[in-house]
Amino acid sequence: MSTRRKEILEELGLTPLWHSRIAQGATDSATDSSHQADTADARRAQILRMDWTQLKAGVADCTACPLHQARTRTVFGVGDENADWLWVGEGPGAEEDASGEPFVGQAGKLLDNMLAAISLQRGRNVYIANIVKCRPPGNRNPEPAEAQQCAPYLARQIELIQPKLIIALGKVAAQNLLHTDATVASLRGKLHDCSGVPLIVTYHPAYLLRTLADKAKAWEDLCFARSTMQTLL
Ligand code: URA
Ligand code: SF4
Repeated sequence: MSTRRKEILEELGLTPLWHSRIAQGATDSATDSSHQADTADARRAQILRMDWTQLKAGVADCTACPLHQARTRTVFGVGDENADWLWVGEGPGAEEDASGEPFVGQAGKLLDNMLAAISLQRGRNVYIANIVKCRPPGNRNPEPAEAQQCAPYLARQIELIQPKLIIALGKVAAQNLLHTDATVASLRGKLHDCSGVPLIVTYHPAYLLRTLADKAKAWEDLCFARSTMQTLL
C-alpha cells in the first residue's frame, strides 16, 4: 500500500492499519526496527484520535498482543465517562474475562468496599479500568510488551475522561502508569504525576486479600486520596 493511501485511510479512520502492518513487520524478518517504531507511533496516534465508540470497537477487535489468543472477552472499563476518579487495576481475571466487566470477582468486592470507605460507588463519579484489556492466562502479570501494546487505549481513556485523580491499584498499574520499577511500598503516600493528572498509588485489592497486615496502610492511602481530591475540586 502506498504511504499516501495509508495516510488517507488512517485519516478517515477506515482501517485498523496496525493489524496488517504488524503482520507485515513479522514477515519482514523483523529487521526494520525503525519501521516497527513508526508502526507503533502511527497506531498510538490513531488510537489517540478515537472517540468513545471507536475506542470501544478498537479494543473489542484488538489482536495487537498475544493476550487476545486466550481471552473470552475484552474488558474495556466501566463507569462514569466524566468521572473525577479513575481507578486502574492490572488486568482481567477469570470472572472479568467471562463477564466483560472489570473487578467483578473477589478482588472486585474488596474494591467496592474500598470505594465505599470513602463514600464512593462504582459508576458514580468513578471510572474503573485496567492496564491490559485481555486476561493474562493463569492470572500471570502482563508482560511489559503486552502492557505497552495496550497502553494507548488507557491513555485515550484518560484523555476522554479527564479525571481529577488516578488511583493506581498495585504494582503493575503503578509501574506502567509512572514508568518506574519502584515498589508500591515506596510509591504510596506521595502525589505523583501521570501525564499531567495527579496519581496516588495503593495496594491491589487481591494483594490485600492475601496480606491483611497491609490493610491499615491501604486505609491511610484511601484517606490521603479523599483529602487530595478535596484539594483538587
Ligand atoms: N484484578 C484486576 O487488576 N483487574 C480486574 O479487573 C480484576 C482483578
Ligand atoms: Fe489488544 Fe490490549 Fe487485548 Fe493486547 S491486551 S490484545 S493490546 S486489547
